[in-house]
Amino acid sequence: MSDNKRPETMERITTPELANAFIDEEIAKLRAQIGEGKVLLALSGGVDSSVVAAMLIKAVGKQLTCIHVNHGLMRKGESEEVIRVFGEELGANLIYVDATDRFLDKLAGVSDPETKRKIIGGEFIRVFEEESKKLSGIAFLGQGTIYPDILESDGIKAHHNVGGLPEDVEFELVEPLKFLFKDEVRVVGKALGLPDSMVYRQPFPGPGLGVRCPGAITRDRLSALREADAILREEFEKAGLMGKVWQYFTVVPDFKSTGIKGGKRSFEWPCIIRAVNTKDAMTATIERVDWDVLERITDRITHEVDGINRVLYDLTPKPTGTIEYE
Ligand code: XMP
Repeated sequence: MSDNKRPETMERITTPELANAFIDEEIAKLRAQIGEGKVLLALSGGVDSSVVAAMLIKAVGKQLTCIHVNHGLMRKGESEEVIRVFGEELGANLIYVDATDRFLDKLAGVSDPETKRKIIGGEFIRVFEEESKKLSGIAFLGQGTIYPDILESDGIKAHHNVGGLPEDVEFELVEPLKFLFKDEVRVVGKALGLPDSMVYRQPFPGPGLGVRCPGAITRDRLSALREADAILREEFEKAGLMGKVWQYFTVVPDFKSTGIKGGKRSFEWPCIIRAVNTKDAMTATIERVDWDVLERITDRITHEVDGINRVLYDLTPKPTGTIEYE
């Protein structure tokens, strides 16, 4: 990368017209850079990698191969959406790797947060490398780098250092979003026709639900977490909070308490709801969620999710809490 400074003349992309102009210009540049070459992209389904994928499909079509690694810590329906949008609707070359067992077996019994992150990050790189070795003639690697990643090289992504790719790859990098801020990436994604559920997706950490299942991950607690998270997202969307609240999710901690379900004593996990707002993720405040919405979510989670008998709302800003639990 020769120049990592956003050109001063570059206009802020705020409208579909400006997004289309940016897309046209970038596509010409991508074609010039890539020529007849082959490009590989790790497609998580997050905003940045999805927008890069859509741009590369427009620019070089089948010269692009996307690899989507399902580490078993995705939210409900996420991998299915990646397959539907990119594999079916946009007709991309998409390799889907269900590595759930591989990740969960490696994580079994591991409770230290940093060790969990290292296992997830390391395993992700290994799976990606194994898959890429099966392909031949790849010269380029697409990446969803955006401008804040360059500005804050010690920022969130670099700090957590998970979900990234090896730095010693022999491919030439293709980074069409590297001068864009997040809001601009969303405008571009919308102009490219990606669904709102992808374009306005809240941030989701590389280690996925793994950091929201504190301590040693078990399949049953992970499954309860995934179901509870899906209910929370559905109810927030119905209440008009999607895209308004910066990040909201559930956590299922590793302890049980007594309750009553179906007239019988139960001994099950609690589910914690966290909903925060922030500008840069360095500090965060709590969303004052409407009480009726919280009660509806509580009712649904406790009645629809196996293994959960209580719902708690986290009132802790950052600091003193971090946004995630691990
Ligand atoms: P914390 O928990 O440090 O999180 O307050 C700040 C923001 O970073 C996200 N996060 C991650 N993002 N890879 C990422 O790309 C990660 O490993 C990771 N861990 C946390 C978190 O969701 C929040 O938005």
